[in-house]
Amino acid sequence: MVVTSRLRHVIESQQFSRSVLEDLIARADEMKREPHRFIGRLAGQVMAALFYEPSTRTRLSFEAAMLRLGGQTMGTDNAREFSSAAKGETLEDTIRIVSGYADVIVVRHNEEGAARRAAAVSSVPIINAGDGPGQHPTQALLDLYTIRDELKQIDGVRVAMVGDLANGRTVRSLTYLLSKFKDVKVWFVAPPQVAMRDDLKAHLDEHRVPWIETQDLEAVLPEVDVVYMTRIQKERFADPDAFNAVKGVYRIDQGTLALMRKYAILMHPLPRVDEIAPEVDADPRAAYFRQARNGLHIRMALLDRLLS
Ligand code: CP
Repeated sequence: MVVTSRLRHVIESQQFSRSVLEDLIARADEMKREPHRFIGRLAGQVMAALFYEPSTRTRLSFEAAMLRLGGQTMGTDNAREFSSAAKGETLEDTIRIVSGYADVIVVRHNEEGAARRAAAVSSVPIINAGDGPGQHPTQALLDLYTIRDELKQIDGVRVAMVGDLANGRTVRSLTYLLSKFKDVKVWFVAPPQVAMRDDLKAHLDEHRVPWIETQDLEAVLPEVDVVYMTRIQKERFADPDAFNAVKGVYRIDQGTLALMRKYAILMHPLPRVDEIAPEVDADPRAAYFRQARNGLHIRMALLDRLLS
């Protein structure tokens, strides 16, 4: 296993080189194949999880990853209410304190840029577990790993990003990672109210990654290898009428599934609401539960790389 460059904080997808990504994928493969080899690897180390927004997968898969590597965990769910943030403590002061107790801090926050602010004052690695509509780089790592695992390669992949692309931090982070691979093509499928932001389109142009913007999901489904569905994020809309105008806009059910290629995969960062019908779950192309499971192995690989 070759370590190609140093990782300290994990804040955004742009920071990963292709060689670091390949190293993490190789480590995750090993962790998945031979988990017994890594027992005790992080013994004596402590991970703190500070979650200011709700989570099931990210929080629990990070905890499971640390525990399976022999480390220990501590933290707070609902940190806005159950940490001293409720008394007015700043994120920076909380991080200064917790970095004296832990060897790594995993932070999910409602504000874009919060992870970067945390890293600026932390004496231990900060991992961004989602910062508002900003980025979710470790979700992107597990998404990339899933594409490689399911389709056997990432170069040449054709991906449709579907749903709430303005607020979708997972889509942003995954698109940044995909731009590091060859011959990738991206479709952004969204209503204009939640279209992909211009900064990411400019990034793709700069890296010569072709992209197409459309509202027509049915026209795109037969064209792609990966359909990456996302939820319309109700909690990011200040105006309920604006949310109601776009909710339920796209749905994969038996009818739309039939338009997908035979060997394509359907991904979703989860949680889903109504954008994938439960009847789709039994189709072999429905990769989203396997995708969530991959979060354990890629986060084990990441913690191992940061801390061992
Ligand atoms: N995909 C994801 O971030 O899920 P959680 O919000 O449950 O962590």
